[in-house]
Amino acid sequence: MCGIVGYIGNKKAVPVLINGLRSLEYRGYDSAGIAVLEDNEIIAIKDKGRVANLENIEDIKNLNSSIGIAHTRWATHGKPSKENSHPHLDNSKQFAVVHNGIIENYHELREFLSQKGYTFLSQTDTEVIPNLIHYYYTNGIRDTDQFLRAVKSAVDDLKGSYAIEVMSKNYPDRIIVVRKDSPLVIGKGNDENFVASDIPAILCHTKDFYLLEDNEYAVVYANDIHFFDNSLEEHSKSIKSIEWDATAAEKNGYEDYMLKEIYEQPNAIRETIGSRFKLGEKCNFDDIDISKEYLSQVNKIWIVACGTAMHAGLVGKNAIEKLCKISTEVDIASEFRYRDPIINDKTLCIFISQSGETADTIAALKLAKSKNAKTIAVTNVIGSSITREADYTIYTHAGPEIAVASTKAYTSQVVLMVILAMYFAEILGICDENCVEQLKSDILDLPNKIETVLESADDIKKFAEKVYTEHDMYFLGRGNDYCVALEGSLKLKEISYIHSESYASGELKHGPIALIENGVTVISILTNPDLVEKSISNIQEVVSRGAKTLVITNQKLSNVNFDFIMNIPDTNSLISPILSVIPLQLFSYYIAKNKKLDVDKPRNLAKSVTVE
Ligand code: F6R
Repeated sequence: MCGIVGYIGNKKAVPVLINGLRSLEYRGYDSAGIAVLEDNEIIAIKDKGRVANLENIEDIKNLNSSIGIAHTRWATHGKPSKENSHPHLDNSKQFAVVHNGIIENYHELREFLSQKGYTFLSQTDTEVIPNLIHYYYTNGIRDTDQFLRAVKSAVDDLKGSYAIEVMSKNYPDRIIVVRKDSPLVIGKGNDENFVASDIPAILCHTKDFYLLEDNEYAVVYANDIHFFDNSLEEHSKSIKSIEWDATAAEKNGYEDYMLKEIYEQPNAIRETIGSRFKLGEKCNFDDIDISKEYLSQVNKIWIVACGTAMHAGLVGKNAIEKLCKISTEVDIASEFRYRDPIINDKTLCIFISQSGETADTIAALKLAKSKNAKTIAVTNVIGSSITREADYTIYTHAGPEIAVASTKAYTSQVVLMVILAMYFAEILGICDENCVEQLKSDILDLPNKIETVLESADDIKKFAEKVYTEHDMYFLGRGNDYCVALEGSLKLKEISYIHSESYASGELKHGPIALIENGVTVISILTNPDLVEKSISNIQEVVSRGAKTLVITNQKLSNVNFDFIMNIPDTNSLISPILSVIPLQLFSYYIAKNKKLDVDKPRNLAKSVTVE
């Protein structure tokens, strides 16, 4: 999705802006552009295509300005083209704007501005913004606050979601920013300040950030930042230091971010566990305040998320139901928000989102809140939009996830959900303490066991080499293994573009087995000792119809005729997905590499889906 960068300070702006845009490439985009102030004029350079194209434009190298705004665009209104790329200027070329989000009433505003004589060069919703600013600027009272007031009047007219950055040739010492339902942060430096839609874009310059709230304005100077509320009353704001290391958002010698993030999982899990529990002690979540009285009257838990985060929720459901005996349902956020779900003050709703910016998940959370449910957000991104909406936020602390395909965020979400289930069970006092103690010990062993799984990456690579030209694949499993089958299948589709389906093994006979024919690849996950016999029978059914089978298992299998068995360490079945998903992440990765695809930036996908 779209990305924003801004710079004002004592350096040349262009390299900072280009670097920032490069760090945002992972979000997915189809055009890029920058605007700087040079000799009192706004110079905008933009086009469809990659950030690298911008860098090669000769004119850009001669720009010495130390103020600028920049954008990567993911087309919503109007195809990718030079005209539709941001920044957009008003007709008089006094104001330049970049914008993330969607202006829902842009038709109306365009109509209004057209009647006032404004013309438009693009098909975008964004182009109304600089022209509206110009309209209010020229029709407002002339004083020192004229620029800010014009931005505020224009923003008051907007319906939808936005993060907006504005620069004016009349005010070469400042950038004005405002947001609603779309992220925006300001990074504080020495004699320089930065703006970004995403922390990694400017993490190499500063670790000190102001996280802008909805409807909050900031006027950013090189040496100062002023914050204003929606009535333009000025207020002070506290700064947040981000622990992420700048190198955490770099490849560190790995060929791709995805591979790096797969290998970061042992550490990511250590960070997720953090100080949330120790052996012999109860789990503790400083970040939430849930009492036994409250939890005892909860009659339903909803876990709501999208994509991979939803798959983590499925594993969370199994843990909560097993340990807490509270009925728990998982739903896709885009379905949940429109189907009038049964929610009241006895409902606890948990929303999982790596980015914390997914539009559907945030809308689902708002819906739950409006119906008086208590809400918990599970996210990886500090200060992300979801954290402002939820009653409580729990961070996964997996570190920045840059590759579009989620890997370490998934495993850390699963770990966190299981720890949360143990925490609830301990509050309720209904759990078998020995069982929970054993589970804690198993969770603490996970990082080392993940390392063992990663050591077998070459075996998976070999299997991937054999099957990467296939057109269809099937993933099977029961219980938590089915949750992993769903995730493995999604990962394969996303980055290798191979059609794949996942089924609960027991469903095979109810239809899908008709698709199994000679040579079809079937991947089965088999980790639950209670279900092993049944699952083996299901795999035999596809083998006898000619399928090629990859089986990922922690069980000792004898007398089986599977093509390839990948052994993984044994663990508690509540957390087995954390180990069994890793071969599947690697499998998709190696298939995509064999097909020479861009694993970090798969086609049509964006890292954070900030529009519906
Ligand atoms: C898959 C993937 C997506 C995300 C989904 C939700 O690899 O990354 O399916 O899981 O878009 O994103 P978040 O977790 O940011 O809400």
